[in-house]
Amino acid sequence: MKAAMDKLSLDPAEGQGGLHVAIIMDGNGRWAAERGLPRSEGHRQGVEALRRTVDASRDLGLTHLTLYSFSSENWSRPKQEINDLFGLLRRFVRRDLADLHKNGVKIRVIGTRTGLDQDLLRMIDDAVELTKDNTTLNLTIAFNYGSRDEIARAAQRIAEDVAGGSIAASDISPELFNSYLDTAGLPDPDLLIRTSGELRLSNFLLWQLAYSEFVFVDVYWPDFSRETLEAAITEYQRRQRRFGGTTARSAG
Ligand code: IPE
Ligand code: IPE
Ligand code: MG
Repeated sequence: MKAAMDKLSLDPAEGQGGLHVAIIMDGNGRWAAERGLPRSEGHRQGVEALRRTVDASRDLGLTHLTLYSFSSENWSRPKQEINDLFGLLRRFVRRDLADLHKNGVKIRVIGTRTGLDQDLLRMIDDAVELTKDNTTLNLTIAFNYGSRDEIARAAQRIAEDVAGGSIAASDISPELFNSYLDTAGLPDPDLLIRTSGELRLSNFLLWQLAYSEFVFVDVYWPDFSRETLEAAITEYQRRQRRFGGTTARSAG
């Protein structure tokens, strides 16, 4: 697989130098239910899968990994489950940050800060600050994230800048809009993976996934492994990307 990844080079027209994989980590609850375990155990095992995936992504030479870990709609879950999920994020940052930093992982968090506790925000800010100069793998965590919310917040800030005179309405282009999104500066994902067999985006990166390849896998997130990731990338490499043109460009 390493050899295949070494060969993987994206079309220069994309202006990107590596592979960006985005993942909707889904199915923790069903994984647990199938084993007669509480949903919280599924989430705990989900964090193990996350660790494995970050390691595998580094080994495979991905430049960007973006993970959907808590959606703006997930607030509708029972309070106890929300507490469990937030507790796991805290523990993940506390336990893994030093290793991630040592391994050259640059952390970024997308989503809204609204509704998050001060201590969690400080933890996130510290992790981002500590790792800001790292270059091995760009790890973006979508936390308290919803794509429509992100787009609406970007539109608000653009409207404020137009009102303030720093930009004109006629300056608004896809490129300018992009620069107001939480993902400003990140390349668009090349490959989107969703686990658990669900075939939907659930409000994830609606703008950024415009030309991404989608691979849906039937495993629940806690069972996601290096092999699952490699298989999805291999599937991606078989795809022909056209970007609206007539000439197929091989993804691999
Ligand atoms: C993914 O697993 C984790 C989050 C959405 C936070 P789920 O908790 O959605 O598990 P299922 O989909 O109910 O099985
Ligand atoms: C999407 O999964 C959100 C995350 C993986 C964080 P959900 O489980 O919340 O999505 P739906 O509700 O099945 O669409
Ligand atoms: Mg789910």
